[in-house]
Amino acid sequence: MRNTILSVYQPSHLANLVPSMQNCIESATENLHSSEQEVVFSNLSLKLATDVIGQAAFGVNFGLTGPQSINQSDQVSDFINQHIYSTTKLKMDLSGSLWIILGLLAPILQEPFRQILKRIPGTMDWKIERTNKKLSGRLDEIVSNRKKNENRGSKDFLSLILSARESQNVATNVFTPDYISAVTYEHLLAGSAPTSFTLSSIVYLVSGHPEVEKKLVEENDGFGPHDQVIKEAMRFYVVSPLVARETSKEVEIGVYLLPKGTWVWLAIGVLAKDPKFIPERFDPKCEEEKRRHPYALIPFGIEPRACVGQKFSLQEIKLSLIHLYRKYTFRHSTAMENPSELEYGLVLNFKHGVQLTITKRT
Ligand code: HEM
Repeated sequence: MRNTILSVYQPSHLANLVPSMQNCIESATENLHSSEQEVVFSNLSLKLATDVIGQAAFGVNFGLTGPQSINQSDQVSDFINQHIYSTTKLKMDLSGSLWIILGLLAPILQEPFRQILKRIPGTMDWKIERTNKKLSGRLDEIVSNRKKNENRGSKDFLSLILSARESQNVATNVFTPDYISAVTYEHLLAGSAPTSFTLSSIVYLVSGHPEVEKKLVEENDGFGPHDQVIKEAMRFYVVSPLVARETSKEVEIGVYLLPKGTWVWLAIGVLAKDPKFIPERFDPKCEEEKRRHPYALIPFGIEPRACVGQKFSLQEIKLSLIHLYRKYTFRHSTAMENPSELEYGLVLNFKHGVQLTITKRT
């Protein structure tokens, strides 16, 4: 499965995605036009990232950004509301659904308890279940329409898995309709929420550091932004603070001997912690950068199961920064709490969103 989809996220294919990414980004940023305005930037970036993954992975225009989004049909607004709901309401800490809390305390009871809770109207589990059903229903429609199209080619994630299913016996057994449905849903979430959070956190951090903004704008007006500000924001806020592995054989890690089948959690969110936002630490000329261990910063996880969308999301984030800072500068809105409050959902999230004041550059 992983090998099947990797090809659509290779650099050669990514270059072809630039025009459609640019279109989404342009329509998203066109809406910010008036001279001084307040926006909930995190909502805008989630819509943008969802539109981009919609085009790139499913060949569908969700139409969540741009002028048309003001007059979104009820169906589309319903879809984005469900998507925002499911990406923000699933909490992995003690403020989350009861079955997640129970899983932390008594893992064996977690699944039976979840099955009961999701049937009790009004519980968080019931609401999440209902939302997830609606959202996956919408995605199943997309899958079924694409199945009917015999000339779908192999240009995106969905057409690749559907064509693989039709062309190989082994794949038909693996790619059952339920599996395709689950993996499509996973791809929508994995392809939008982390990128959206990362873009929001970059703009949020830069807005609070005018000297960094000045440098970013200068880079932008030259050859485009360097990676330093992106890396530093990804170090500052690690989108997926935990990554899981299961040992496939007995393995020794330091003084521990782990039997086959042991779950190992990598707490990548506690690596490389420093409360100061200093993008220059990633300057190749900086001593800290020269000394950095390759595994000191791994926001996309590590091989062989590292994130398949790493290059895709970095391309999207860079293009978004170019478009945003070419036209605008940003400051924290007075409505934005200080310090910002974060919460753990599917990925890390700003609890009350990123609220910004936008100024058009002259
Ligand atoms: C800034 C954006 C992103 C971040 C920080 C991020 C982070 C991660 C992390 C930490 C993992 C787990 C890796 C591991 O277990 O070692 C992961 C897995 C994954 N990501 Fe991303 N991701 C991002 C964007 C994307 C995008 C845009 C896509 C789709 C186009 C995507 C698709 C996936 C998939 C399918 C997996 C599962 C890979 C597997 O298990 O083989 N991600 N991501």
